[in-house]
Amino acid sequence: MSKIESYKLLVEQIKALIEGERDVVAVMANVAAAIHEAMGFWWTGFYRVMPKAGSDEKELVLGPFQGPVACMHIPFGRGVCGTAWERRETIVVPDVEQFPGHIACSSLSRSEIVVPVLSQTGEVFAVLDIDSKELSTFDDIDRQYLETVCSLIAPIF
Ligand code: SME
Repeated sequence: MSKIESYKLLVEQIKALIEGERDVVAVMANVAAAIHEAMGFWWTGFYRVMPKAGSDEKELVLGPFQGPVACMHIPFGRGVCGTAWERRETIVVPDVEQFPGHIACSSLSRSEIVVPVLSQTGEVFAVLDIDSKELSTFDDIDRQYLETVCSLIAPIF
């Protein structure tokens, strides 16, 4: 099956999975698992924008994911995830070693894509972070379909 065909099936599966569901953790958990299984990625998960304990600031906190253990807290503007949050846009990184400030949760991660989950007014609720052990795994097809997935789940946040 081509990547586009896999993504088309995945989007339909996710629509069915989340229909009528209102619990955001349950949705993130099953969406991470569905993407991970369908596409065979190495690490697939969410970081949520959360209040930072003991401060007025916010930070990204690890949410439901599939794959090896990962960093639990990421500051605004740091790493690929924090930069996607700051810019409110998807970031595709063909080689993590070329991305200034990349946070290496694992030395095995070679490329990644981070897609923000955006409200209709542009507020970032969370980011979807997907990592690969190969260089240059992600392209505009991944960007397009993963942005569709994030737009499907945004109303539940
Ligand atoms: N690579 C990410 C950190 C998260 S882990 O890869 C799961 C980043 O630089 O934002």
